[in-house]
Amino acid sequence: MNEPFRIAIAGLGTVGRGVVKILQSQPELIRARAGRPVEITAVNARNKSADRGVDLSSYEWVGDPLALAGHDKVDCVLELIGGSDGVAKDLVEAALDNGKHVVTANKALLAHHGLELAQKAEDKGVSLNYEAAVAGGIPIIKSLREGLAANKVKGIYGILNGTCNYILTEMRETGRDFNDVLKDAQDRGYAEADPSFDVGGIDAAHKLALLTALGFGVKPNFDGLSIEGIESITADDIRFADELGYRIKLIGMARCLGGKVFQIMAPCLVPTASALGSVEGVFNAVFVEADPVDKTMAEGRGAGEGPTASAVVADVMDLARGITLPTFGVRASELKDAPWADLSDITAQHYIHLKVLDQPGVIADISAVLRDHQISIESLVQRGRDPQRAVSVVMVTHESGAKAVQDAVADIAKIPSMVDKPTVLRIEHI
Ligand SMILES: NC(=O)c1ccc[n+]([C@@H]2O[C@H](COP(=O)([O-])OP(=O)(O)OC[C@H]3O[C@@H](n4cnc5c(N)ncnc54)[C@H](OP(=O)(O)O)[C@@H]3O)[C@@H](O)[C@H]2O)c1
Repeated sequence: MNEPFRIAIAGLGTVGRGVVKILQSQPELIRARAGRPVEITAVNARNKSADRGVDLSSYEWVGDPLALAGHDKVDCVLELIGGSDGVAKDLVEAALDNGKHVVTANKALLAHHGLELAQKAEDKGVSLNYEAAVAGGIPIIKSLREGLAANKVKGIYGILNGTCNYILTEMRETGRDFNDVLKDAQDRGYAEADPSFDVGGIDAAHKLALLTALGFGVKPNFDGLSIEGIESITADDIRFADELGYRIKLIGMARCLGGKVFQIMAPCLVPTASALGSVEGVFNAVFVEADPVDKTMAEGRGAGEGPTASAVVADVMDLARGITLPTFGVRASELKDAPWADLSDITAQHYIHLKVLDQPGVIADISAVLRDHQISIESLVQRGRDPQRAVSVVMVTHESGAKAVQDAVADIAKIPSMVDKPTVLRIEHI
């Protein structure tokens, strides 16, 4: 087919600019693989006169992004603005309403409104593609929706935020504290001026909600996700974990437990030698366990101009080829309201780090609380010996109920010789 597939781009920042560069630099490769030329017809951003380092002169500049939704020379709208609501949402809704395909990199939008938008796309017979929204350059949406389509997914485990993984890696390699490394990451452009979405686990949780929906055929449930960030991880935790043979990683986990689905975003210990334990720096990785494929993992850059734009253009090429698929792998009406599991449904080994005044009887008090909650200890290490100052007590539990561990630690925190809030992290033997 020689008829071009015509796209409009709303948002010409890091990702939008990257898309323009790919389409301008290798049109022939894209034409050959997509089976027809892909052409940009119209573009939009806030500031028309900004120098974006790419030549936009042959495209129509449209002042209002919503005008792209009804543009008669556009088959597909690329929403590369961002934000869970506002203009991004208005644009995607309007484009779908007008029967245009949509490609977006916007995980926040889909985590919050994915179900309604998937339904709208389906009603209009068009596609809503979002490969770039999860783990940037790693084609995990395509893997789950197509390559693993014949599998029953048992678990998805992801390192889904490069900023967090960079910070945790730097903390381990340099022994520095979280705040120090975060400041450095901001200076180098690896972390936003407002890092709360990244280090608080929210950005990664948006992505996990989409993977859970796709992997388990359930409605995206961001609001039901338990989210913990990496702000309270200390250099001591990283060092203790290292000594025990683990790395601390911010892990998004979605698992099938009996008939229920469990999803959680939290820092965890994973064995140093495991597949996820060796993913360092800004890299992302997604590990999937499914039946019958067994275990599979993909690793790559989760953000940045090249990886993200690569995913956006691949989505566009699929549409140019005529491949349209349901947003979350099954028709929106077939997505289930999963029975959702909570902490009381899962068991795991746990790492517990307490800061205590080194007074006689304190270990006995801690042991008594753990016994009352039926938690047994695999190992206990006390570091330091100074009755005047707090010392670290680090314990690794045997496999125990996660809720029981949480309750026990809440009781331990009430022991008078306890100093600081205890740190509790699951250990995942992935
Ligand atoms: N950057 C990454 O590595 C990455 C990775 C994965 C996913 N994403 C997602 O990709 C999307 C875009 O991210 P980005 O990093 O490219 O953002 P960005 O660099 O901040 O660019 C945003 C673009 O949107 C335009 N824009 C903002 N508000 C607008 C409005 N009200 N009307 C019209 N245009 C508006 C901006 O215009 P001006 O340039 O004129 O200000 C800019 O061109 C987000 O959903 C993000 O979460 C990004």
